[in-house]
Amino acid sequence: MKISVIGCGYLGAVHAACMADLGHEVVGVDVDPARIEQLSAGRAPFYEPGLPELLTAAIATGRLRFTTDLDEVRGASVHFVAVGTPQLGDSYAADLRFVDAAIASLLPVLGPGDLVVGKSTVPVGTAARLAELIEGTGARLAWNPEFLREGYAVKDTLAPDRLVYGIRPGDDAAVAALDDVYAAAIAAGTPRVITDYATAELVKVAANAFLATKISFINAMAEVAEVTGADVTQLADAIGYDDRIGRRFLNAGLGFGGGCLPKDIRGFMARAEELGVDQALGFLREVDSINLRRRERMVDLAREVCGGSVEGKRIAVLGLAFKPDSDDVRDSPALDVAARLQELGAIVRATDPQAIGTSRRVRPDLTYVPTAIEAADGADAVLLLTEWKEYRGLDPAELGSVVAVRAIVDGRNCLDPGAWRAAGWTYRALGRP
Ligand code: UDX
Repeated sequence: MKISVIGCGYLGAVHAACMADLGHEVVGVDVDPARIEQLSAGRAPFYEPGLPELLTAAIATGRLRFTTDLDEVRGASVHFVAVGTPQLGDSYAADLRFVDAAIASLLPVLGPGDLVVGKSTVPVGTAARLAELIEGTGARLAWNPEFLREGYAVKDTLAPDRLVYGIRPGDDAAVAALDDVYAAAIAAGTPRVITDYATAELVKVAANAFLATKISFINAMAEVAEVTGADVTQLADAIGYDDRIGRRFLNAGLGFGGGCLPKDIRGFMARAEELGVDQALGFLREVDSINLRRRERMVDLAREVCGGSVEGKRIAVLGLAFKPDSDDVRDSPALDVAARLQELGAIVRATDPQAIGTSRRVRPDLTYVPTAIEAADGADAVLLLTEWKEYRGLDPAELGSVVAVRAIVDGRNCLDPGAWRAAGWTYRALGRP
């Protein structure tokens, strides 16, 4: 099929490369010339395992190209809209200006029989509004949310858990076109939910709200564990054996960040308020508060291991990305904690396997070093804030030989407390005795 992808950020770049990998002819469009140049050269503008290889291979087949010229989407019959919907600066609501601009720029090139497919996460009701705008061109609209996780974006796009098609009732042609696009996943037995626009839009935010709630639930248990001497990681294991609960997304620690969960729950609350059902989502305010309290608790623990104040103390920060296998620092709890400690007068030295460049762009005032050993050199305390594999496997004796004080705070409950204590470390963690 001939496909265009409007917006080549995280979602769009991965989607375009994966669609070409599946055999479709794809043109990716973005307004940022630097990004288009990078992608055209087979380079991913962000760290995502497997993406550079996929881009290079797909470009070499001639099936994938990138451009800033929207006119080049003429000839494609399916147009994916994959632009960002960040949180507005002055409220919880989502900023729809990129979605609106993408649709406005598509209108002149759309013709009868074309299908526009929204993939961006939008407030419920957006698709119905956009469908009206598109109607005059003879093209149709479908809403097809994505559920990709950073770090697994290629796999999640090529082999999704489920496909959701939000369509105008009875639009069989839209279903047939999407089935052609996703023929490989459908042949592999991927469940497909065909529904209306509103349900499709809600599926995405409901899924993210549920995941955020699950994380904040276990972090709330961590708060209780902290005042009772209980161990939240064992608690999670024990309740996780119940299939109805499940162990995944029950890792207590510094909480969630990134470009999706935080802004999606806030956008969902804002939309619910507009719809007069804000009470239904009141609990999400609590989910957000529990999440943000973890960062304060981390700062408190740093203060405790430093003897009451971090002022003038040398603190090593291991991890800046919002999660491992990503260089994304959008709403990253780790970067936030590092910055707060510096503001409190600590001498922070931070490191991350991939996210130093992205961190420096938003926090040029922090000091970055390439390795954990360099960060820990002479440190009064070490904070593990993102559970990269290389940090989980750190040797307590080796790290102990460079620090000034053997004190570590495990912000992700990913170290073996016994091993660190046996090596003479003071080990503290969120939700563990
Ligand atoms: C998320 C959703 O998982 C994905 O389906 C959606 O499409 C986009 O948002 P992503 O932002 O890539 O994906 O990150 P995810 O793996 O979900 O992790 C989100 C945050 O939660 C991270 O900061 C992570 O560290 C944190 N987390 C996750 C926990 O604190 N505990 C857990 O048990 C799991």
